[in-house]
Amino acid sequence: MNVDKGYVDIPVPEGIDLRAEIIRLKRERDAVIMAHYYQRQEIQELADHIGDSLALAQLAAKTTASVIVLCGVHFMGETAKILCPDKTVIVPDINAGCSLADSCPADEFARFVADHPDHTVVSYVNTSAAVKALTDVVVTSGNARQIVESLPEDAKIIFGPDRNLGNYISATTGRDMLLWDGACHVHEQFSLSRLLELKRQYPDAKVLVHPECPKPVRMIADKIGSTQALLNYAVSDDANEFIVATESGILFEMQRRCPEKTFIPAPPEDGTCACNECNFMKLITLEKLYNSLVYMAPEIEVDSETARLAVRPINRMLEISHNLGLI
Ligand code: 13P
Ligand code: SF4
Repeated sequence: MNVDKGYVDIPVPEGIDLRAEIIRLKRERDAVIMAHYYQRQEIQELADHIGDSLALAQLAAKTTASVIVLCGVHFMGETAKILCPDKTVIVPDINAGCSLADSCPADEFARFVADHPDHTVVSYVNTSAAVKALTDVVVTSGNARQIVESLPEDAKIIFGPDRNLGNYISATTGRDMLLWDGACHVHEQFSLSRLLELKRQYPDAKVLVHPECPKPVRMIADKIGSTQALLNYAVSDDANEFIVATESGILFEMQRRCPEKTFIPAPPEDGTCACNECNFMKLITLEKLYNSLVYMAPEIEVDSETARLAVRPINRMLEISHNLGLI
């Protein structure tokens, strides 16, 4: 199948019931559909599992299906393929990249690591397989603090690629951390002044902030946490209104779980948008998901040597997370 454009570029047959066809094809292919919380609502509705980066990695490691269709971004597909080399892993549009992963090219990171040979390399899961292959332990926003705390107290740590998450973890753990200077273009865009404006409008609202956001935004948070942690907080907290400073896709699950509460998306600094969307996550559409199941493409491949090196820090993350009761 020609996937030169990064997805199957064939019009879907007219008049078909896309949702019903996706469910039929999924069964026929013995496929499981996993979706990140930042996916479009219609994709989340169809998925067998929705979750944050940590949950998706754990689900991929455990699945018995023959095919994983990962509705998320490229590095998530790579992580699934590294954990399940014998399975077919599909991301319906492989143009779904990640500005944070792109801010850390493997050759530059390799030089950085080589320049600091006595450091433990901790990498956020939002990295290419090649960067993971240079890493001692992978983390997600759901376990970064606990994993850093599990390292020996005198460990010197390289943390990449997110400077905001790194800065937050370094401040909360007090650990000596050398940070890579990368960021996510979505979380970096939240502005303190626009958040404060919203806070004046909704004085009783609690502010939920992802740790990929810059420090001034984190400073006014009632809760800082991974996408899953923010969702859990919204479900269990007594407040009725929440201002949410992370990608707006999570509002769908928050609203579904708490229909009586109000969720207000935090806006980005620029423009007139009321919410902040990841353009990469939103590349996955029902049409592309349908075509990916019909043509079993585009498949994610990771070369065997990179996968052999990258699987160790990912498994180490899953093992520590399991031992700490985080998954
Ligand atoms: P989590 O899924 O770990 O919250 O990370 C957020 C993110 O930006 C995913 O790309
Ligand atoms: Fe990457 Fe940011 Fe999009 Fe997550 S939200 S996939 S970190 S660009």
